[in-house]
Amino acid sequence: MTGTSDELLTVAVEVVRAAAELARDLREQGVSGVATKSTATDVVTAADKATERYVRDLLRERRPGDTVLGEESGQSTGTGGVRWILDPIDGTVNYLYGLPQYAVSLAAERDGEVVAGAVRNVASGEEWTATRGGGAHRAGRKLRGSAVTELGQTLVATGFGYAAARRAHQARVVAQLLPVVRDIRRLGSAALDLCFAAEGRVDAYFEKGLNLWDHAAGGLVAAEAGLLVTGLAGAPPGPDLLLAAPPGIHRALHDALVAFDAAGGP
Ligand code: IPD
Ligand code: CA
Repeated sequence: MTGTSDELLTVAVEVVRAAAELARDLREQGVSGVATKSTATDVVTAADKATERYVRDLLRERRPGDTVLGEESGQSTGTGGVRWILDPIDGTVNYLYGLPQYAVSLAAERDGEVVAGAVRNVASGEEWTATRGGGAHRAGRKLRGSAVTELGQTLVATGFGYAAARRAHQARVVAQLLPVVRDIRRLGSAALDLCFAAEGRVDAYFEKGLNLWDHAAGGLVAAEAGLLVTGLAGAPPGPDLLLAAPPGIHRALHDALVAFDAAGGP
């Protein structure tokens, strides 16, 4: 079973809405089952796991045979050419503290290329969607990134990893960037950072150390809004670095990030 990008997006939107409703209901009941993963500040909650299980069940019903890669339980092996890439809750620390900036993120990859994606802010109900070649949308509006062309006017979102040594390097990069841009935002959800950049709520976004589930859906939203979604020095976006910036500022921000060694460090 393959399906057109529009068909895959329809499934992604249905599933993300149902999953966001579950995550919201669970948050109202209080946070439970908090455990740590890679470091003492990298948390997972019962809601991350329950939401992932629910999405897997919904996808199994609607798309039997597809592969699913999810943050909390890894990759299941399917038979078709479609792989779903899931972050059940992106922004788990915000979820833990009740900060209304966390999302369910689901992308569909066909033959190795992300072709549809949906990101839904659980707390606000805002929802971003995109299909490859079909544009990015929120609330029926086609999205376009910001028109900024000066680094000094650029509002840059970023994020930090969970390991102390990586954070120390990221802090050095931000210390060099902060004096040459308008300001920095650390909102706590890579998926939402990418959707915000797609909409021009921030001008650009970069981060080192992302996993595929953090950026698969949001990266398509940003690209379809006209942003360049790249790595540094010709590399594709990936764990070393992801930069999403509109064409008017991509080169200047890219060169600053190279100069500040944003893809370096542990
Ligand atoms: C994290 C968030 C955060 C980013 C981290 C991610 P999680 O995902 O997207 O904004 O800075 O790199 O790991 O742990 O909340 O799913
Ligand atoms: Ca997550």
